[in-house]
Amino acid sequence: MEIPIVSKPPPFPLLWEYRSASPAQTIRVGRAIGRACRGGEIILLDGPLGAGKTCLANGIARGLNIEGPLISPTYVILRTYASPRGLKLHHLDFYRLSGDDDLASVGLEDCFGEDAVILAEWPGQCPGAFEEFTLALRLEPLDETVRRIRAYAGTVPSASPLTSLKGLGL
Ligand SMILES: Nc1ncnc2c1ncn2[C@@H]1O[C@H](COP(=O)(O)OP(=O)(O)O)[C@@H](O)[C@H]1O
Ligand SMILES: [Mg+2]
Repeated sequence: MEIPIVSKPPPFPLLWEYRSASPAQTIRVGRAIGRACRGGEIILLDGPLGAGKTCLANGIARGLNIEGPLISPTYVILRTYASPRGLKLHHLDFYRLSGDDDLASVGLEDCFGEDAVILAEWPGQCPGAFEEFTLALRLEPLDETVRRIRAYAGTVPSASPLTSLKGLGL
């Protein structure tokens, strides 16, 4: 069975696109995203294995002033970090899950809150997990070191700096 790569976008509008030529550049994009987070954001990270989702998540953590690096949550599904900015970062990876029924033991309901930023890798594995989300980021490998990062609007209209490269200072 083919694993669906994308859960909700593309029906949602494309907001911006960035071509990253190295892991360092992907970290830089993530850092800008992390700096722009104010709490309450739900960000979906989509794309095939090795695309750079965890790399981008590491940048976002840095932008939240979390001492890294993040440890991939592939086996534990959820890892939570405290940001000195008074926010929590919940880093989820649904790669090993195969449907919404598998969410029961994850404790997802405790992740939502105005003081929390949620990053979810492989959201398409559990399509019912996030009825609302802020932004969906899709990473595509173009060659060994180049990644296309596309940002799609979330379900809630937003004037957040996350919605444009200019707002992010990129
Ligand atoms: N431009 C780039 N951005 C992010 N990662 C890159 C890039 N070029 C090469 N890589 C490599 O791709 C891999 C991405 O791994 P990871 O972030 O764990 O992917 P995922 O979480 O999507 O499975 C790393 O080994 C990283 O060094
Ligand atoms: Mg990963």
